[in-house]
Amino acid sequence: MVVVRRDWESRFYPFPIGHLPVLCALGPQTRRRDAYRRLLAWVNEEAGPELALPHLSCRVPVEDVALVHALEDSGFRHMSTMVQSYWKRPEVIQRVPRGWVVREAVDADWPHLGEIVRDILSSMLTRYTADPDLPASGTRALYEAWGAESRAKRFSAVNLVVVREEHASEPGRFDGFAFARFSPELGSLLGGKTGELTISGIQPAHRRHGAFNVIVPALLAWLWDHGAEHCAMLTQIQNYRSLRTAQRTENLIVGAHHCFHRWLGTGAA
Ligand SMILES: CC(C)(COP(=O)(O)OP(=O)(O)OC[C@H]1O[C@@H](n2cnc3c(N)ncnc32)[C@H](O)[C@@H]1OP(=O)(O)O)[C@@H](O)C(=O)NCCC(=O)NCCS
Repeated sequence: MVVVRRDWESRFYPFPIGHLPVLCALGPQTRRRDAYRRLLAWVNEEAGPELALPHLSCRVPVEDVALVHALEDSGFRHMSTMVQSYWKRPEVIQRVPRGWVVREAVDADWPHLGEIVRDILSSMLTRYTADPDLPASGTRALYEAWGAESRAKRFSAVNLVVVREEHASEPGRFDGFAFARFSPELGSLLGGKTGELTISGIQPAHRRHGAFNVIVPALLAWLWDHGAEHCAMLTQIQNYRSLRTAQRTENLIVGAHHCFHRWLGTGAA
């Protein structure tokens, strides 16, 4: 087991945020569950007072029943479940259909784009918004900073926006956004240069008109044009709309993981 402090996330909340990136036990299921319980008992005793990490998170494969049970028994609470999926570079690359324009975000789109990123992500179900121990103001600030990091191309390699053709000449006008980065870690798993869809959304007033079905293939086309062999995506399991768009573009689901959080602080967060 490894426990780390997450400095970037800790900037947004009134307490430091910890994470368990590695939690591994070997053997048959009951032996593993007991080993996990002992490791997590140590976390409960040490992480709050000794490591000064009152808030912890971890991600576990849904099929690891021993770990899921040990986490629940140790006071960790389930926040969300994510579907892991990926695309393989296709033979024929899908291009933007008539009536739409997909382009890179420019200065005229920001900071309005940053506000939209913040508002859309803060209002959807994520492990941050699901957690009553994480103050909502901190989560809004986190998503606002995510937009700013994306704009500066630290969290993304490309930031695309989608707009209907008739509005394309209006500066700062767009229906939605989709950002992606290249991921060396996923590349070593999937093989070859690998992109990753990071954040995306369509403004509420512009939904259900096919904008997402346009921008996702356009984002993939950008990645294929820039040498990607694969592109990965993480989606909340209940995000039926997003999963439908993914399926339209021959996306392959490869797994799912649960996100658990544990509050070890004293009193209310
Ligand atoms: C998910 C989201 C991006 C979809 O945007 P959109 O432009 O409305 O989506 P589209 O019109 O392109 O439709 C995409 C698919 O979802 C389906 N869909 C969209 N809204 C739906 C609804 N309210 N109920 C049922 N299906 C819906 C569409 O029918 C389409 O599927 P199909 O092509 O098989 O018919 C948008 O709802 C959103 O921004 N949600 C919050 C942020 C988010 O979830 N981002 C994605 C994170 S991975």
